[in-house]
Amino acid sequence: MNLTLSVIKADIGGYVGHSSSHPDVLDKAEKCIAAAKKSGLLIDYHVTRCGDDLQLIMTHQHGENDEKIHNLAWDTFVACTNIAKKLKLHGAGQDMLADAFSGNVKGMGPGVAEMEFKERDAETIIIFMADKTASGAWNLPLYKIFADPFNTIGLVIAGNMHGGFSFEVHDVKESKKIVFNAPEEIYDMLVFLGAPSRYAVKAVYHRESGEIAAVSSTQRLSLMAGRYVGKDDPVCIVRSQGQFPAVGEVLEPFAHPNIVEGWMRGSHHGPLMPVAVRESNPTRFDGPPRVIAAGFQLSGGKLVGPLDMFDDPAFNNARQQANDIADILRSLGPFEPHRLPLEEMEYTTMPQVMKKLQGRFENI
Ligand code: 13P
Ligand code: 13P
Ligand code: MG
Ligand code: MG
Repeated sequence: MNLTLSVIKADIGGYVGHSSSHPDVLDKAEKCIAAAKKSGLLIDYHVTRCGDDLQLIMTHQHGENDEKIHNLAWDTFVACTNIAKKLKLHGAGQDMLADAFSGNVKGMGPGVAEMEFKERDAETIIIFMADKTASGAWNLPLYKIFADPFNTIGLVIAGNMHGGFSFEVHDVKESKKIVFNAPEEIYDMLVFLGAPSRYAVKAVYHRESGEIAAVSSTQRLSLMAGRYVGKDDPVCIVRSQGQFPAVGEVLEPFAHPNIVEGWMRGSHHGPLMPVAVRESNPTRFDGPPRVIAAGFQLSGGKLVGPLDMFDDPAFNNARQQANDIADILRSLGPFEPHRLPLEEMEYTTMPQVMKKLQGRFENI
């Protein structure tokens, strides 16, 4: 059976500040989505949150970019924004850039990752969700999972993975895409993946079967809004086991903290800390950035789970390392490379400061 898995997310208000989500907001989302399941629009759903970002995980049979599904997500975010406004939560409706729904939430503020596939006999899915970071944050882990044999031994010893994976990479500033084949094109590909503020892995495919293996949200909030309103706080769906990397291979890149953009005011580099959902409350300097992982088995579209994948002491060292890196980076204060480079600061107050001082710059 053809199944669509849609993960649609938005920051509709933070509690307290940008740290976490209020239970009343999650309750409201749960009610809205439960009604859609009852009406038959959805097969199943799971509502969760990562930090201050509300996550709607939905299974259905309407395909990607379906207007009814996107409308459901939008209406749910609107209903939750009303709760957030009543509670005067911080930045109520933060990611709701449009006044009204117009067919597809893409470009309207929320982040979207969707994939359609035929459910396998055992369909293992890991959904990564991050807070206080930008959409390119998945480049490094996706590269490791699907192209690095030091991370994924299956690329070497599993016959059904030995043919490699292809990567669809998006230039998020120029709205262009290119497909690279791993392993033979990894050197070309890494030129782009290593610059995650501009190039982001949108999808990964199993080369021999053409099956979708992973998909991420690549929406850049600052490019949509033309100013800084909050960070993308992206999501990523990864299929696992069988012809795809095993669960442990999918999680392994997070055993060492990736350094990503985001953190305080979306303007800093910081370590991406893998945590259990209950620990996804970025408080220190509004961070450091967090990633959670929800594991499911699908059964006729039913979401069996989630298992909270980073709720494992095996990730304690990663968390400790992330705290150590956070200490080192924080000691730099407003200096790069803790603070983002100038071109990334153009969506903050930087242009205003520059304008104010324009007349005082003299030729040398
Ligand atoms: P089990 O023997 O626990 O099923 O593990 C098999 C495996 O391949 C783990 O990666
Ligand atoms: P969020 O993108 O999670 O709302 O964070 C915004 C921010 O500016 C934190 O300091
Ligand atoms: Mg926020
Ligand atoms: Mg957030």
